[in-house]
Amino acid sequence: MKALVKEKAAPGLSLVEVPEPEAGPGDVLIKVLRTGICGTDLHIRAWDGWAQQAVSAPLVVGHEFSGEVVSVGRDVAGIEVGDLVSGEGHLVCGKCRNCLAGRRHLCRATVGLGVGRDGCFAEYVVLPASNVWVHRNPVDLDIAAIFDPFGNAVHTALSFPLVGEDVLITGAGPIGLMAAAVAKHAGARNVAITDVSEARLDLARKVGADLALDVSSASIADGQRLLGLREGFDVGLEMSGNPAAMRDMLANMTHGGRIAMLGLPSQEFAVDWARVVTSMITIKGIYGREMFETWYAMSVLLEGGLDLAPVITGRYPAAEFEAAFADAASGHGGKVVMDWTA
Ligand SMILES: NC(=O)c1ccc[n+]([C@@H]2O[C@H](COP(=O)([O-])OP(=O)(O)OC[C@H]3O[C@@H](n4cnc5c(N)ncnc54)[C@H](O)[C@@H]3O)[C@@H](O)[C@H]2O)c1
Ligand SMILES: [Zn+2]
Ligand SMILES: [Zn+2]
Repeated sequence: MKALVKEKAAPGLSLVEVPEPEAGPGDVLIKVLRTGICGTDLHIRAWDGWAQQAVSAPLVVGHEFSGEVVSVGRDVAGIEVGDLVSGEGHLVCGKCRNCLAGRRHLCRATVGLGVGRDGCFAEYVVLPASNVWVHRNPVDLDIAAIFDPFGNAVHTALSFPLVGEDVLITGAGPIGLMAAAVAKHAGARNVAITDVSEARLDLARKVGADLALDVSSASIADGQRLLGLREGFDVGLEMSGNPAAMRDMLANMTHGGRIAMLGLPSQEFAVDWARVVTSMITIKGIYGREMFETWYAMSVLLEGGLDLAPVITGRYPAAEFEAAFADAASGHGGKVVMDWTA
């Protein structure tokens, strides 16, 4: 089969022939239809410091996909040949305290699809049945392909009650954009989102943000004034990974405010801890998705009318992966999807 492979410990990816993956008794073999390009894939392609310590070549990359079930192992129940599925890209150990307690998203020995084992940028992928999400209702193939980052957005956005609250999102990348759509859909009063890319801020307006603020020319305090807030934001969703964004968010929260932090800073940084203490701010780190509570929420949010269509801005056949990756790396669009059937 064709697959997009990190062939050696150097920058780049190659579309090459590899053997089809083998499925065990508890596994599901899936024909890949669409895949989403994630920041993780960009790191692996660029072969930066993180990728060098996290990845061993050769590796089939990719973890965001939609596909159709081709065969199921003899121990698999509840998944049928022909089902439209997406996949949870965190493979958990099943043995640690949290796994045994059913808190699989808190597993301390998680292996990433397309990072620690072969991924889904290929014509076929194999996953344990426990990582497969079956779409029971019709869903657009491209949207189904981005359930993994959509799950990051939903997990973060629904970490704290949003109804009637004033929500600040720092970073209008694909995940920030989806979080803005979710927060608005879930009943936030105001959703303010910040970025330094005008193109992404325009996308944020399309998904329903009340205020899309360019923080290269305005401050979050200006944003508060524009919205008529007097006491700060109630809920913050940090989705940029930029220390300046986190600091500015902390400075603009109400007392007792709550922050869910998804953005991954590349190194340690200082924050005003005295402010966290005296303003009694809660900060919660978010990693991945809850299995499978977040997945349930994603499916029913879409059924309830949540519209993610504006978030997908690039579509390419897999053969044009170089153009697709360049588009994703530009930092000015939304999600980029590759088609493995074209
Ligand atoms: N915790 C997890 O499980 C998890 C999963 C996926 C991604 N992430 C992280 O979440 C973040 C969002 O992911 P993404 O794919 O949307 O990333 P992205 O890099 O596409 O988006 C980040 C956005 O932040 C903007 N930005 C930069 N400086 C800013 C500032 N000072 N204020 C406001 N915005 C600023 C950038 O212009 C960019 O549009 C990244 O940091 C990513 O590494 C975490
Ligand atoms: Zn991803
Ligand atoms: Zn575990």
